[in-house]
Amino acid sequence: MQLTNSLQNHWMPFTADRAFKADPRMLVRAEGMYYWNERGDRLIDSCAGLYTHAAGHCHPAIVAAIEQQARTLDYAMAFQFGHPASFELAARVAALTPGNLNRIFFVNSGSESVDTALKVALQYHKVRGQGQRTRFVGRERGYHGVNFGGTSLGGMVRNKESFGPGLTGVHHMRHTWRADQTFVKGQPPEGADLANDLERFVQSYGADTIAACIVEPIAGSGGVLVPPVGYLQRLREICDTYGILLIFDEVICGFGRTGAPFGSQAFNVTPDIMTMAKALTNGTVPMGAVAFDDRIYETISGAAPDNSVELFHGYTYSGHPLACAAGIASLNVYRDEGLFERANSIADKFLERVFSLKDISAVKDIRGYGMLAAIDIEPYGAAVRRGFELLRHCYENGMVLRVGTDTAVLAPALIANDDHLDEIVDHLRAALEQF
Ligand SMILES: Cc1ncc(COP(=O)(O)O)c(C=O)c1O
Repeated sequence: MQLTNSLQNHWMPFTADRAFKADPRMLVRAEGMYYWNERGDRLIDSCAGLYTHAAGHCHPAIVAAIEQQARTLDYAMAFQFGHPASFELAARVAALTPGNLNRIFFVNSGSESVDTALKVALQYHKVRGQGQRTRFVGRERGYHGVNFGGTSLGGMVRNKESFGPGLTGVHHMRHTWRADQTFVKGQPPEGADLANDLERFVQSYGADTIAACIVEPIAGSGGVLVPPVGYLQRLREICDTYGILLIFDEVICGFGRTGAPFGSQAFNVTPDIMTMAKALTNGTVPMGAVAFDDRIYETISGAAPDNSVELFHGYTYSGHPLACAAGIASLNVYRDEGLFERANSIADKFLERVFSLKDISAVKDIRGYGMLAAIDIEPYGAAVRRGFELLRHCYENGMVLRVGTDTAVLAPALIANDDHLDEIVDHLRAALEQF
């Protein structure tokens, strides 16, 4: 493959940009569980793209659907016009969501899904005469993307410290990691009481000032923090008591990662709003979505005069035909290949292998649920140095690894077989034992 001879112009996202340009890692092809780089090396993908490729890379049925759509209708004006695929995909997504989360708004990314959810929460309260509900509650170590709403509600300091005050009226609950509960496979038994932080904000600011509380069912980018037993249920109770909307950010947890369609079903708690992206299109065409409870849609729609726009929000590419075709094809593949059930049935094997790394001295904690796990590594020198070395070691030896600071995250595609899981864990053991 012909590569450009200048790397200077592309300023890369969440990347050590100068370091990359001095020592690039260029992926040029992918299929199933593997990537190939420009040197021709095959690398196993331990993070399913970026939690995106539940069905693996370049699935032929999804590729064919995108090709076909590109030939038939490459775009339809998104405002005041429609095209069939977005309605079909919305119905398919609504069939997977729990409860009455049947109204699906399309966006182009997880970040946009979060900011959309927050804006609609504000409008919902406003049309009910509760426009004073403008506060939002997030959580430490939460990640909700990089737009201003998500940046403000997220709880990862590096993502916020350079970008000003963000939204006002934002509060953060404590995260759920506890030093006395390490190496827990699945849900930690203790910590449900941390949800009471939400009630403390009610007491400090008044229940009728809080619009919504947003959490990831499993905090992904913050290091795979699995909710303690009863924690999400307690959040739901507090939200119900005080009229606060509960938003689950399912951008990573959605589409089988937890062994259920969404984290909501895995943990048996139904939110009022759910954000999603990533595996919605098996990572092939950028797309996100927000699922709203019928009640939210009906309240907002019912308040608007006939023939008027009910929600002054949307994107040029909301419900883009290529993304919709990719989404429908992806959901077909997930159904036809039984991938959510498969995730559920292989999760124990996966977690067992990951937890087998516990004996390595550089490993400080391991957490995991479903097909998602994280390994904290003892840092040395500057934070991120060891994580970055781990990433490079794995890359040089045949694996693409996702690291956040000094935490390695594993989230293989749901098509992974025993050999793939062994290969991933063997790479990690070899790299970690080096330390
Ligand atoms: C929980 C969560 N929300 C939002 C986002 C942002 O998604 P995007 O990068 O598509 O904007 C992510 C991305 O990883 C995420 O994990």
